[in-house]
Amino acid sequence: MASSEHGESKVTRREFLMGSAAIAASIAGTSLSQAETNPAGDSKLEALLFLLPLLSCPTETSIRITALNDKQPAEAVIEMRKEGAQEWERKKPALKLAAYEIFNWTVKDLSRATRYEYRVLLKQGTDETWRPVAGGSFTTQRKGPANYTAVLMTDPHTGSFPAGSGPALTLDKVVQNASRAKPEFVLDLGDNVAWPGSREFPQKDPNGAMNAYARYRRQIGPLSINAPHFAILGNWGGENGKFPEKSIEIVAAVRRSLLPAPDHKTYPQGGSEKEDYYAFTWGDVLYVMLNIQTYSKPSNPEALPSLMSDVNQITEWTLGEKQMAWFESTLKNATERFRFVCMHHPAGGNAGDPMNTLYGRGGARAWNTGEQVKIHALMKKHKVQIFFYGHDHVFVDDVVDGIHYTLPGSCGAPWKFTKAETGYERFWPDSGHAQLDVTPEKATVTFINVEGKVLHSFSVLPA
Ligand SMILES: [Fe+2]
Repeated sequence: MASSEHGESKVTRREFLMGSAAIAASIAGTSLSQAETNPAGDSKLEALLFLLPLLSCPTETSIRITALNDKQPAEAVIEMRKEGAQEWERKKPALKLAAYEIFNWTVKDLSRATRYEYRVLLKQGTDETWRPVAGGSFTTQRKGPANYTAVLMTDPHTGSFPAGSGPALTLDKVVQNASRAKPEFVLDLGDNVAWPGSREFPQKDPNGAMNAYARYRRQIGPLSINAPHFAILGNWGGENGKFPEKSIEIVAAVRRSLLPAPDHKTYPQGGSEKEDYYAFTWGDVLYVMLNIQTYSKPSNPEALPSLMSDVNQITEWTLGEKQMAWFESTLKNATERFRFVCMHHPAGGNAGDPMNTLYGRGGARAWNTGEQVKIHALMKKHKVQIFFYGHDHVFVDDVVDGIHYTLPGSCGAPWKFTKAETGYERFWPDSGHAQLDVTPEKATVTFINVEGKVLHSFSVLPA
């Protein structure tokens, strides 16, 4: 990896390059041409990157930018300027990149709540001059009451479907729709990636994960160049607690390379060194991003009721002691007037049938089951307004004790579960995403289907 700022990856460079070649081989020849992923069709930019930049970990003074080189060795630099300024400022010395190498910059010394433009420039072979190859813009972290828009997406299961198939086209469309809102960031609520066996079997090598994460990056490129992503894990992410630690770590290393998230040092709220749970402030809102998958360990892994199951009993869904203690103190210390919690599914279940209940389905219906009882009580005590989740692939908005349990549909997965499976009385089976508009007075969530139609909207008031 080109960077040492975010710790050593457990995937060796050789393994990664082999995996990168596998990614290239598997994606080459698909209908996803570089031109389609070139930012905003900007003809001034040349398509010399295998993966467009992904913005992550925005703070008041810094941003992390990762991209993946294409097949030619190259040198790369990054330039930035405040929006509207004329002159580009070169922020980092040039990085030397091998074919299909990830490059990774954390740009520092930025100003708070400010819109910046950036561009990546490359030199290949005997090139004398730098060529701009990708770019975009972003806003640094806001503190205190502010107006802004964010978007929520969940369950594309990217890696399960061939390029050009219906689910992949759905994600492309949702990415376009979401980009139109000019969100300041994106919340990815899990099952962002999936590949055959990722839910059922421990991973012995990083190849499946690399392929799926690379495809996800490829598809979200038009959004990821302009809006930092904050992702959490779903049960298809290959990091479920029923797997051995070693195989979880193989996949986690790929995730941290290709879909980096904040770690315990990024924000004052802290979180996990493994970038799997964390919290951040944006304006007057606290976002707490939780991992329900990795710390839930089945009591009898040999006797799970089915290959899809992660636990033997519903009470085994857990954040684990460390994450729960952190969650509790994060809420206790919160000063933001809006508080939103995100998790792939509740730490319990109450669905249409016993199998789906054990699988964690049912959203608000599961508020008083398993460890969700405790999570719900903490959310109530600390005035959390919305619990955002994924997993059930339909739009849902139910309220318990004034807390919205809100599921922003699916932005790809085609399986639309019915009342028989989920138990929901009211839901929208469309694909799509949710838009979150925050003002000092209220926060409004709008469900938008893949055709751009508004399905439902609600607002919450500050605590
Ligand atoms: Fe899921």
